[in-house]
Amino acid sequence: MQTSNDTASGYVSPRARATVFHAEGVNKVYAMGEVEVHALRGVDLDLYQGEFVVLLGPSGSGKSTLLNILGGLDVPSSGTVRYGEQDLSVYDDGALTRYRRDHVGFVFQFYNLIPSLTARENVALVTEIAIDPMTPEEALSLVGLGDRLDHFPAQLSGGEQQRVAIARAIAKRPKVLLCDEPTGALDVRTGIVVLEAIDKVNRELGTTTVVITHNADIAEIADRVIRLSDGTIAAVECNAHKKSPKELVW
Ligand SMILES: Nc1ncnc2c1ncn2[C@@H]1O[C@H](COP(=O)(O)OP(=O)(O)O)[C@@H](O)[C@H]1O
Ligand SMILES: [Mg+2]
Repeated sequence: MQTSNDTASGYVSPRARATVFHAEGVNKVYAMGEVEVHALRGVDLDLYQGEFVVLLGPSGSGKSTLLNILGGLDVPSSGTVRYGEQDLSVYDDGALTRYRRDHVGFVFQFYNLIPSLTARENVALVTEIAIDPMTPEEALSLVGLGDRLDHFPAQLSGGEQQRVAIARAIAKRPKVLLCDEPTGALDVRTGIVVLEAIDKVNRELGTTTVVITHNADIAEIADRVIRLSDGTIAAVECNAHKKSPKELVW
């Protein structure tokens, strides 16, 4: 049995940590003309402070829908999602925008950098409006790009562009980092470098991190793995001994 003070192994059960998200009975139905698509069906889920979660599942299983609801980009059709003491499911657009701005960093498959701005300037767009940001230089150094500050996106590889996107997402020191297929457009070796950057942010900033993938091998770097299937949670597993991204082979 895993206990919360298993100091011998250094392992801390996620359940010993504070709850960041508490989702209960979350349903999401998209109306497509006459047809209703049930993207999420009664999802119950808790996410804990500082954990690294991998969200696995086949295409169409509801991964992006769930991530978007946690990140305040979308709202459930029914059910509740609490972030700390806040009930996101009753928020209007303005409140959701403030929640996203102050608490959430997003990383997507495509980097969405502004081509006419350097790496530093792309990150500065966020740091200029954040409450307690790090500097663009600090954020880019954290992801290993301290020597690429003045490069434009076209002068960077795909993996480097994705790391700029990660620096942009974490420069405001968000409590939560939500990544939707961050390695989906990258080759294996580059994907690992990107996962190392995300893993480092999780460890050094304590940012609660969720990474969506349909590559089951990536699950080995998570504290917990949540499997979605047809809009429901099919399984939740804990990795007592998670791998570092460097140890991945796929
Ligand atoms: N905006 C939308 N409008 C209509 N249907 C959607 C929309 N977004 C997602 N869906 C549908 O909801 C289901 C779950 O989608 P999604 O969450 O994107 O899955 P995943 O990220 O696991 O591939 C799919 O059947 C998808 O077609
Ligand atoms: Mg998706």
